[in-house]
Amino acid sequence: MHVLLATAELSPLVKVGGLGDAVAGLRSALLAAGVEVTTVLPDYSGWKLGGERLVKLDVPAWAGPASARFGTLPDGTPLTLVKVPGIARSHPYLDEDGQGWTDNPARFMAFAAAVASVAEVTDPDLVHANDWHVGPTLGFLPESMPTVFTIHNLAYQGRTDGTWLEVIPRRPEAFEWWGDTNPLSGAIALADKVVTVSPNYAREILTSEFGAGLDGPLEARAPDLVGITNGIDTDVWDPATDPLLPTHFHAEDLHGRRELRSELLSRVGWRGADPVIGVVTRLTHQKGVDLAMATAPYLEGMGARLLVLGSGDRALADQVRSHVEQYPDRVHFWEGYDEASARLIFAGADLLAMPSRFEPCGLNQMQAMRYGSIPVATAVGGLVDTIVDADVDSVHGTGFLAKDVTVAGMVDAFHRSVRALRSPKRRATIMHNGMTTDWSWTVPAARYREIYEAAIS
Ligand code: ADP
Ligand code: GLC
Repeated sequence: MHVLLATAELSPLVKVGGLGDAVAGLRSALLAAGVEVTTVLPDYSGWKLGGERLVKLDVPAWAGPASARFGTLPDGTPLTLVKVPGIARSHPYLDEDGQGWTDNPARFMAFAAAVASVAEVTDPDLVHANDWHVGPTLGFLPESMPTVFTIHNLAYQGRTDGTWLEVIPRRPEAFEWWGDTNPLSGAIALADKVVTVSPNYAREILTSEFGAGLDGPLEARAPDLVGITNGIDTDVWDPATDPLLPTHFHAEDLHGRRELRSELLSRVGWRGADPVIGVVTRLTHQKGVDLAMATAPYLEGMGARLLVLGSGDRALADQVRSHVEQYPDRVHFWEGYDEASARLIFAGADLLAMPSRFEPCGLNQMQAMRYGSIPVATAVGGLVDTIVDADVDSVHGTGFLAKDVTVAGMVDAFHRSVRALRSPKRRATIMHNGMTTDWSWTVPAARYREIYEAAIS
């Protein structure tokens, strides 16, 4: 089978959020299973490839000139980098002030069209497009090409000016959304199979509460909509070998983990046994860091402390800073996006909070569990599919779920998790369950292959 996998992010080359990790993990698992994968990524920064071959792409005038570089990454796996006007930038989506590049619609519409042209050159059995950036690709492909479209986050639709509808050759009306162009509505309508990143989110998005306005178009595709829970790349996320960790450990020997906890505390300037609750996140409304901050007055009583690593929205960062000023012994903030610090938190914290308002899948909780931090999360989206509440199932429990996405819900879940930590036996069971669960991409990639087969036939 030959799959063309189109994406705007691919770890470790370019990652803004979980999209980059998810596509990279799926790609590796497909390659390992012997699937031929042509991965197509925007050429943001002229990365060098091995054995490069340059091909001029046949695109409409407004999307050109366009070209593709076919070559290999240092690990020998193939990659295709596509160049269209304006695509090369320091950040895929945002300018220096954190605002979207004003020409994002043009950049990604051209990329989406160019991906279809790569498909013409490479003749895959199927095109698998991910998220809004390559939603319009389905409108540029011939009807005969089987397609799968994965929604990683319905909140980002790439909605833009209606004039772009005129450049989409196939079923432009499917991309029309209240006079605008909506890359996601069209992809949902045109794909042979629509996948989203967890079964629970697949159900949620059919409701007006979680459908982000597109619950109608999604309902129309319900028979072809499936949820496949993401995995994590367990070679990259392995506490026994992680090169970004100064000490290593595994589920049967946690000595190294205790050292990493001390290292984490000393970096913050904290001491003692009080539980550390990590938060590793993009600072956006979705992730609910404001809900975590609102628990600050209760932390002293619980004897817990919050360590936030995150970057993004300025108002949310200000909010975290003001809580640090008010509760210096209880709240600490590392502002930024830093992979080594993220891994130190997963490996050294006691708990990891995810107070998300919605969460298509979430990778943090799986990374945390693999590194021995117990997740405390809201009961939404993929968090429900990946965390077993230890107060509901004491044998298989891996974390704690707040039923209500509210401050009270999170405070209650923090209370329950801190209580569990006080019993060494309970804590060991919960940690061991999370650390030994198979979080790899093996099962999800096999599910994707079934969906590919179904789309092809
Ligand atoms: P989303 O894609 O919505 O941001 P996910 O949980 O799917 O959420 O993926 C987030 C990815 O980004 C994870 O790999 C996580 O470890 C990483 N991450 C998030 N915030 C930070 C940060 N501030 N520093 C380092 N890594 C981060
Ligand atoms: C999105 C979602 C996140 C998911 C990731 C990878 O960024 O917000 O929940 O894990 O995509 O699919």
